[in-house]
Amino acid sequence: MIRINEHYRKLQSSYLFSDIAKRVAAFQQAHPETEVIKLGIGDVTRSLPEACIEAFHRAVDEMGEDATFRGYGPEQGYPFLREKIAEFDFQARGAEVAADEVFISDGTKCDTGNFQELFAADIRVAIPDPVYPVYLDTNVMAGRTGAFSQGRYKGITYLSSTAENGFVPTLPDEPVDLIYLCFPNNPTGATIAKDRLKEWVDYARDHRALILFDAAYEIFIRDDGLPHSIYEIDGAREVAVEFRSLSKTAGFTGTRCAYTVVPKDCSAYTADGEKTSVHALWHRRHTTKFNGVSYPVQRAAEAIYSAEGRSQVRERIDYYLANAGRIREAMRGLGYTCAGGKNSPYIWIDGKTESWAFFDLLLNRAGVVCTPGVGFGPCGEGFIRISAFNSRENVDRAMERIKEALGA
Ligand code: MLT
Repeated sequence: MIRINEHYRKLQSSYLFSDIAKRVAAFQQAHPETEVIKLGIGDVTRSLPEACIEAFHRAVDEMGEDATFRGYGPEQGYPFLREKIAEFDFQARGAEVAADEVFISDGTKCDTGNFQELFAADIRVAIPDPVYPVYLDTNVMAGRTGAFSQGRYKGITYLSSTAENGFVPTLPDEPVDLIYLCFPNNPTGATIAKDRLKEWVDYARDHRALILFDAAYEIFIRDDGLPHSIYEIDGAREVAVEFRSLSKTAGFTGTRCAYTVVPKDCSAYTADGEKTSVHALWHRRHTTKFNGVSYPVQRAAEAIYSAEGRSQVRERIDYYLANAGRIREAMRGLGYTCAGGKNSPYIWIDGKTESWAFFDLLLNRAGVVCTPGVGFGPCGEGFIRISAFNSRENVDRAMERIKEALGA
């Protein structure tokens, strides 16, 4: 008899964004006349930068000639891309990262979801609340939790992120081994200062723990004092892995390209306490289970580091940040308290009512899709997240409709 992984039965019915898509589809069927404006899932709407398109085309042409055709590429990614990443994203900011510590992949969702499988089933995991659901669900699938009860899984150390702590969690009271952090944060849009991030690095060093640092929204940081990478913090190379994505950076949500940095100094331990290289483990896993991102996509990704590519990316991020500012100001004008929306494409709004009730109200009365905060964890109850990823026109229309719907 073929038996299932029983841990899957502990998962909540479906993935948050699939739930939302179903509700939106039902609404659209009932109201075909309403043009729904989607400010829910963080999916970009601006095109790939022109520099990427040109590089993409050139690489496709190379694939059309025997002389320049490429088959399987290096599993860790082509050196031409990894070298640019190490230089522009890290060394230029004084962070020590070498090209051979970069693993190119097809997404940060996959990498943050897969990374936990390197570690023992009985480690203690610390996960923020609210949180990008992938970190939690993949640990549930791996059997690291007990049952789900009152919005939380037993066995997980939750790091509450609330208005009181500025949505930056404080160190856990109990010892933990694996820590997930995401800054600029999804969903709250909060950022972390260097001294606060250093507290986490010091904690990980003191407890022989590992930090999985999701920096998928790093490109939105505009305040000079904020760290873009955890490797800007002394001592982080030994205790942190960093995830970056081109999805929001350069519009690769459909094209797929991301990368993970695993420093060679980073360690985990055997049951006997023997130091083991996390880089070697991830390399083993990556080369066994993944065959690389396609050559044209990696060439397109490389193009974001050219002078034109950098300015085209900057223009797109400015555009989304301006959207975020308009959303934040409009919601504030309606009397709502907002976090995020600066150094982040997400605005985290205290809806003063249950998250799903506010979600339904905006959908039914304004035809606007947001994301209910409680979908990211119980600390998100009462909040909604609005994403800045849409056209200026749609953002302005959405805000007008929300004003009308709320009777302002
Ligand atoms: C989000 O809306 O939270 C993200 O777009 C989801 C993702 O990047 O997978």
